[in-house]
Amino acid sequence: MAISEIREVAARFERIGAHSHIRGLGLDENLKARDVADGLVGQKKAREAAGVIVRLIKSGKMAGRGILIAGPPGTGKTAIAVAISKELGKDIPFVHVSASEFYSSEMKKTEALIQTVRKAIGVRIRETRVVLEGEVVGLDYNMVPNPYNPTQKIPESATLTLSTTDEKKTFSVSGRLALQFLYQGIEVGDVIVIDKETGRIAKLGKSRKAEKKYDIGEVDYVDVPSGRVEKEKEFTYVVTLHDLDEANARRGSIFSIFSPPSREIDNEVRDAVDEQVKRWVEEGRAELVPGVLFIDETHLMDIELFTFMNRAMESEMAPIIILASNRGFAKIRGTDIVAPHGIPLDLLDRLLIITTEPYSKDEIRKILEIRAAESGIMLSSDALEKLTQLGVENSLRYAVQLLAPAYEYAKLRNAGKVEVEDVERAAQLFVDVSQSSAYLKKWEEKMLAM
Ligand SMILES: Nc1ncnc2c1ncn2[C@@H]1O[C@H](COP(=O)(O)OP(=O)(O)OP(=O)(O)O)[C@@H](O)[C@H]1O
Ligand SMILES: [Mg+2]
Repeated sequence: MAISEIREVAARFERIGAHSHIRGLGLDENLKARDVADGLVGQKKAREAAGVIVRLIKSGKMAGRGILIAGPPGTGKTAIAVAISKELGKDIPFVHVSASEFYSSEMKKTEALIQTVRKAIGVRIRETRVVLEGEVVGLDYNMVPNPYNPTQKIPESATLTLSTTDEKKTFSVSGRLALQFLYQGIEVGDVIVIDKETGRIAKLGKSRKAEKKYDIGEVDYVDVPSGRVEKEKEFTYVVTLHDLDEANARRGSIFSIFSPPSREIDNEVRDAVDEQVKRWVEEGRAELVPGVLFIDETHLMDIELFTFMNRAMESEMAPIIILASNRGFAKIRGTDIVAPHGIPLDLLDRLLIITTEPYSKDEIRKILEIRAAESGIMLSSDALEKLTQLGVENSLRYAVQLLAPAYEYAKLRNAGKVEVEDVERAAQLFVDVSQSSAYLKKWEEKMLAM
């Protein structure tokens, strides 16, 4: 795996980590926000607006349009975008990036943007495949020593018996496929589907017939299929335009399978993919699923990226764009023009705007409680009060971030619970942004006076 890939995964993990308590927008059937629900607290207007947008997206009425979530730092802009993604479900692509990610040494910023845009456009493909489907009633491996490591045994082949309610068939299975069975832990009693051409295996669940034998929770029970073992079956799955671009860019050169995935893709490849997808759509074999591209820290986008994005939004295949900004009036990067949120006016004109407002003290306390519970951190009521106070005086984000170091101090005392002293100790060492910038400003003044 390329190093760049590892870095990207780590960054994403961190970003989502802070919002892991969020399960949805917490709205009722009438799209009214409940006080505290799905991990969200307050910010009702913004949540209700987001609820309407989710409905528009699901009914396909938002493609090519944009939303701006604007509000002061730490007022839940990213949290609401994460909640929108949870509401949309897995079938609609949702891509979450910070505008800073467009600037890398690996590719041009416009290339990075266009790849990201195409990750947010799905194609739902219906395909009929020949499959083998049934309950595994027999699975015997023929194990031999691994030629590269004789102390280890690997399957040279296997004998598999699949059964439906009407038929039973036995197959001899290649070593490669047998290895897949081992990896996926397929065993007698599982109901599986094998794509005959590619050998891809999917486990549908445990046979309901075997229900009594396996009663460890978390198991899906399914009926044993009827009919023939070998049959044609229609599958529906969603891939993104970017997946198709990559698959097509790779074809043609045997070396390219070794090259890292993050690299520039030729425009001809993208055009060919678009043509192909349009044909599939016309033939009724595929359907476009515009997803959502959430660009956080929008103020980091420059005029060139904005222009490019504006154009992308006009194309027939466009995702829904959600921007988040905590800036008021700011210079558009790459120009001397000051604009609201640092966003060009022609783009602003086409955005629906949701605003977030600062939290009350009670809301801050509640959010801290939820975050602490999510991270498995116990807080004394005084410690919670202290953190709430810090949240009010500084920012919610600061208070949320102090939870983990305060907990470390509690553990150092061999205590299972965070007390005021732990919070104070953490707050002494870690400052928030306004404190750190004020500190540097004082330094600068001192240096200038010298
Ligand atoms: N209404 C809310 N309910 C529950 N948790 C929230 C809520 N609002 C924010 N949070 C949590 O508080 C922390 C800070 O919020 P978030 O990062 O969403 O703010 P933001 O507006 O995106 O800030 P910034 O402008 O700095 O990007 C996060 O951990 C977030 O999940
Ligand atoms: Mg944010």
